[in-house]
Amino acid sequence: MKKILVTGALGQIGSELTTQLRHKYGADSVVATDIRQGENHQDGPFEILDVTDAKAMHEIAKKYQVDTIMHLAALLSATAEAKPLLAWNLNMGGLVNALEVARELKCQFFTPSSIGAFGPTTPKDNTPQETIQRPVTMYGVNKVAGELLCDYYSQKFGVDTRGVRFPGLISYVTPPGGGTTDYAVEIYYEAIKNKRYTSYIEKGTYMDMMYMPDALNAIIHLMEADASKLVHRNAFNVTAMSFAPEEIAAEIKKHIPDFEMSYNVDPIRQAIADSWPNSIDATAAQQEWGFKAEYDVAKMTEDMLVKLNEKLHALSGN
Ligand code: SER
Repeated sequence: MKKILVTGALGQIGSELTTQLRHKYGADSVVATDIRQGENHQDGPFEILDVTDAKAMHEIAKKYQVDTIMHLAALLSATAEAKPLLAWNLNMGGLVNALEVARELKCQFFTPSSIGAFGPTTPKDNTPQETIQRPVTMYGVNKVAGELLCDYYSQKFGVDTRGVRFPGLISYVTPPGGGTTDYAVEIYYEAIKNKRYTSYIEKGTYMDMMYMPDALNAIIHLMEADASKLVHRNAFNVTAMSFAPEEIAAEIKKHIPDFEMSYNVDPIRQAIADSWPNSIDATAAQQEWGFKAEYDVAKMTEDMLVKLNEKLHALSGN
């Protein structure tokens, strides 16, 4: 029977992945952990865990006899740029601790990489699975090192490591914190609340994006994929759409006609965005484990506006 440890379970991905895994495998089969106590995940086991504490992580994994680790705890790109040393310690320290637990307890392992693992010398359009990776951000350095470390643990110790390079993830349950692609989430909140949004990313800046349901399906599919068919194993390019700020604004305007967008570009996040691809090629993921995304920008916007409206109304008690 599956017994899964999730780190960063209160984060943007973790909050929804934990719920989905509990539906699929049973609430007791998913041990949610995070550095803080939250309101979510009270229907099953929850433990406070700082992922830089190797001993604590090992003890929790042993206590629940987990056979799978989904390591999500990390700082995103903009925060990592503001606090590079903290990012190195948390992103790399947490990952190596989690991989060590996976090695010792013979667990299957998932961790996400990102489009942030690419840099200014990477081909920008239809970025291949295997290409130049010389990122210029601390987050990118962490992600490339993380991809290599996961490959290493697989080759050297036989750990069943798997992973994807996620694009910007758009969701309504838990907002992302400190990423470069966060504008594509904030825009929906502001469109509903104020009918206007000031983008910190410049017009014409294309980045890959994906709606959370597709991201969750990708994780579950990849973890269930037949290992003998996986050539790459870690860091599969996955994407669902690529757009610039004015395109998502135009899509929102179809539903909220008086929505207005203006720009006040943040040079730090713009520089990060400019160093990332416009659109990546997900052929390897499609061929090796059948990756497929259901949501394009139109379908996502329709669903996002409905769900977020419901959520914001429920919060305001109307
Ligand atoms: N969404 C992430 C970020 O912007 C990309 O991995 O940092």
